[in-house]
Amino acid sequence: MDKIPNLPMDFRDILRTLRMKAKYALFLGFVVVLVIIEKENKIISKVSDKLNLKQIPQNIFEANSTENDVYLENGSLMSLNELDSAFSQFRNKLANVTLQYGGKQPFPEDITKSPRRHILLMATTRTGSSFVGEFFNQQENIFYLFEPLWHIERTVSFESVGANAVGSAIVYRDVLKQLFLCDLHILENFISPPPENHLTRFMFRRGSSKSLCEDPVCTPFVKKVFERYHCKNRRCGPLNMTLAMEACLNKEHVAVKAVRIRQLEYLRTLVEDPRLDMRIIQLVRDPRAVLASRMVAFSGKYESWKKWALEGAAPIPDEEVQKLKGNCESIRMSAELGLKQPDWLRGRYMLIRYEDIARSPLQKAKEMYKFAGISITPQVEQWIIKNTQASQDSNGIYSTQKNSSEQFEKWRFSIPFKLAQVVQDVCKPAMKLFGYKLANDLETLTNRSISLLEERVNFWVT
Ligand SMILES: *[C@@H]1O[C@H](CO)[C@@H](O)[C@H](O)[C@H]1NC(C)=O
Ligand SMILES: *[C@@H]1O[C@H](CO)[C@@H](O)[C@H](O)[C@H]1NC(C)=O
Ligand SMILES: *[C@@H]1O[C@H](CO)[C@@H](O)[C@H](O)[C@H]1NC(C)=O
Ligand SMILES: *[C@@H]1O[C@H](CO)[C@@H](O)[C@H](O)[C@H]1NC(C)=O
Ligand SMILES: *[C@@H]1O[C@H](CO)[C@@H](O)[C@H](O)[C@H]1NC(C)=O
Ligand SMILES: *[C@@H]1O[C@H](CO)[C@@H](O)[C@H](O)[C@H]1NC(C)=O
Repeated sequence: MDKIPNLPMDFRDILRTLRMKAKYALFLGFVVVLVIIEKENKIISKVSDKLNLKQIPQNIFEANSTENDVYLENGSLMSLNELDSAFSQFRNKLANVTLQYGGKQPFPEDITKSPRRHILLMATTRTGSSFVGEFFNQQENIFYLFEPLWHIERTVSFESVGANAVGSAIVYRDVLKQLFLCDLHILENFISPPPENHLTRFMFRRGSSKSLCEDPVCTPFVKKVFERYHCKNRRCGPLNMTLAMEACLNKEHVAVKAVRIRQLEYLRTLVEDPRLDMRIIQLVRDPRAVLASRMVAFSGKYESWKKWALEGAAPIPDEEVQKLKGNCESIRMSAELGLKQPDWLRGRYMLIRYEDIARSPLQKAKEMYKFAGISITPQVEQWIIKNTQASQDSNGIYSTQKNSSEQFEKWRFSIPFKLAQVVQDVCKPAMKLFGYKLANDLETLTNRSISLLEERVNFWVT
């Protein structure tokens, strides 16, 4: 018979070994952490060297902002990987802090009603995104933010090529991620002047976000002070970011509209984050219509276009044409990636054309809600009905109240044909993908009975 081992002795041995191992592991862990921190610091400081905080005038007209679009040209893969790993650690720490701070974990399993969804409305300027954003803003269980990334663009200056463009995309993405996790404090770093005690009067387009203008986030209005983006229907005190954060955690879902996310591929870490259940809706519009609309909204920027088209003056500067091309291409590349349905995106990406929404807003809204896995409410339906069949003529540039089925083709009669041709030349691949037909002459462009829209059943499959 084998001897029964001396149990207490053995146990002590095991314990001792374990303790040594633990010490060793602890030591190793410590070294690893030091190395990581060191590496991270280097990379982050490398990045932050390039992000200069600018002094910003307060009253810049917001419409201007996206015209300084930063887009990727030659982001080297090396720097992307480096930056990405540094930021993902940084992000995890932030996320932990957020969770501790918020007290309530925004994990899907904690939500008893329906799974918490995170909807990104990804668009570019003048594509009707304010209007489509309302579809989500009007749902009372959704915490909706209107262009929060505006603050980042305003305070951080990026050179628009190479590693800096990559850096900007990563900063946008990581701030966006924190916002989806309801960490609104992160935005305070970018608000100017900086909030005091988490109070600010400078939250961009606060009034466009119902959640920031209802109880309890709307605190009593006591002192008459200037608030540029104040709530529309009632007077509120300055925005308390902590209160807003609590409101966000208390809503069932979060939705953000953003015109500053240029590349879908950068959103992969959001999509793969187990704390998020992302649904990305990419909104596109005929680039000829977008140009026509921009020429009205940002008139100053398009002087040379108008002069060339209407007065035969000097040609449009090549860099502006290249910028238009860059915009079309980044939209197209994002859509191609989304439509390819890579594993990480499956069921989480939807492409939608503004023109289809304009023609059947309610139906498209229902499709978007179905895609998001959220029930559309009667309030949302009523808002859509009320705001798409309005008979009054509203010319407000930011107005979302339009007779939408009539409006969406107006551009055909306002854009000079020469400009339509420029757009067609540089945006052809994107137009082909989205089903926007080219007009080869002025007669085609302005003949109402010729449709420039190919009928497409849903682009996306679930
Ligand atoms: C756009 O910004 C420039 C300064 O950058 C300003 O002069 C111009 O008035 C702004 N345009 C609009 C439409 O606000
Ligand atoms: C970008 O890449 C192209 C070729 O891929 C090269 O010709 C160009 O010089 C690069 N630009 C920058 C800013 O590195
Ligand atoms: C975050 O918190 C979890 C659990 O509290 C911990 O396991 C994890 O290591 C933390 N992550 C970071 C990056 O601090
Ligand atoms: C902001 O809201 C938080 C959370 O309700 C509250 O504790 C804090 O006192 C408020 N801050 C101010 C300055 O009112
Ligand atoms: C909206 O425009 C369409 C197309 O011109 C027209 O048929 C319809 O009557 C208009 N609806 C309202 C409510 O004005
Ligand atoms: C508009 O197009 C239709 C269909 O191609 C054609 O029958 C009609 O003559 C055109 N109208 C004008 C004014 O060119």
